[in-house]
Amino acid sequence: MEHQINGIALPNREGFFGVYGGQFIPPDLKQAMDDINAAYEQIRHTEEFQDELKDLFANYVGRPSPLFFAKRLTDQLGGAEIYLKREDLNHTGAHKINHCLGEALLAKYMGKTKVIAETGAGQHGVALATACALVGIPCEIHMGQVDIEKEHPNVVKMKILGARLISVTRGTATLKDAVDSAFEEYLKDPKNYIYAIGSVVGPHPFPMMVRDFQAIIGEEIKVQTSARFGANPDYVVACVGGGSNALGAFTAFLNDPDVKLVGVEPAGHGLDTDMHSATLTLGKPSQIHGMACYVLENDQGEPLPVHSIASGLDYPGVGPQHSLLKDLGRVEYTTATDQECLDAFMTLSRVEGIVPALESSHAVAWALREAPKLGKDIKIVVNISGRGDKDADYVAAKLGLN
Ligand SMILES: Cc1ncc(COP(=O)(O)O)c(C=O)c1O
Repeated sequence: MEHQINGIALPNREGFFGVYGGQFIPPDLKQAMDDINAAYEQIRHTEEFQDELKDLFANYVGRPSPLFFAKRLTDQLGGAEIYLKREDLNHTGAHKINHCLGEALLAKYMGKTKVIAETGAGQHGVALATACALVGIPCEIHMGQVDIEKEHPNVVKMKILGARLISVTRGTATLKDAVDSAFEEYLKDPKNYIYAIGSVVGPHPFPMMVRDFQAIIGEEIKVQTSARFGANPDYVVACVGGGSNALGAFTAFLNDPDVKLVGVEPAGHGLDTDMHSATLTLGKPSQIHGMACYVLENDQGEPLPVHSIASGLDYPGVGPQHSLLKDLGRVEYTTATDQECLDAFMTLSRVEGIVPALESSHAVAWALREAPKLGKDIKIVVNISGRGDKDADYVAAKLGLN
């Protein structure tokens, strides 16, 4: 299915979502991206590729992920009904496996000899290392040293799965620096390597391709809500870092105007501080990592250091499709602070027995804040993009639970 909104292609043939997206990259990288795009366009429609991915989604990832009615939370908040899309129950514990399998299969079909990627929270790294182990391709993951220290369980898992881990110490030693480092490695041999981007970001075709692989989330929500209450939900809510789990959840509903779509960005220590990562909320149209999109940058056009309690959300850019959806007003982008996120993490853990990732906790925080203001007939689906096991030690130390 080709996607569009208000007659605007998502994306057009050059990879633009309105004025966002595209390929702002050196010529040799452009050739490599065009090769990936051509291979993807050719392979994705084949029965062989579709069948292989479908089988892996069902029997390896465990799809469809359940849609769970959070009754105790709903009762406690006293407003709208809250449903949780359980991407945390996927194999490897997050939505990232959806596009990693797609990217690893594409690498196999293209005969690539190494898959390279960056990771923030480690979820994309673990998912990609998993997919590469399954497909049998060497995998190299670049990760900021700060994130390595914070996300120890995922670091160890990547190593067990056979990935080579590169510690990135430059800059703030977080996600943006890891992306820079991974791109440099990829540029050494773009013919034989493939860069498996971890979100709906980067040069065309990645924002489109990753979106396509993640769109299964919203397609399932549509079927599940229809079976459960015979209609679409009133709200679909997801956290936004680069924006892959959010677009995964939103895509099936983009042209259903009655479904309100809400993306929650990290407000960190507060939007009035320099310790946040609210790119769509406070950034401006610019370029980063080969794409045009909203960016948090200084007056010299350099990306600002960003912060979020959730390592997977601290990125100064954002997907080009989100940038367009913001301008069109189709998605409401809002924020939750580190503190609201921590509260949501603990509340969902204690009221429903579900420990969400700190990233996903931003979307839960929105529900805690907004559900009480909405009528009991309103139905909210919150995308639980991942599980919080990786964050348990960090949260325990922060709250003095050790
Ligand atoms: C569980 C989880 N949710 C969300 C994200 C943010 O990524 P995206 O905005 O692409 O979904 C990450 C990134 O690492 C993650 O691990």
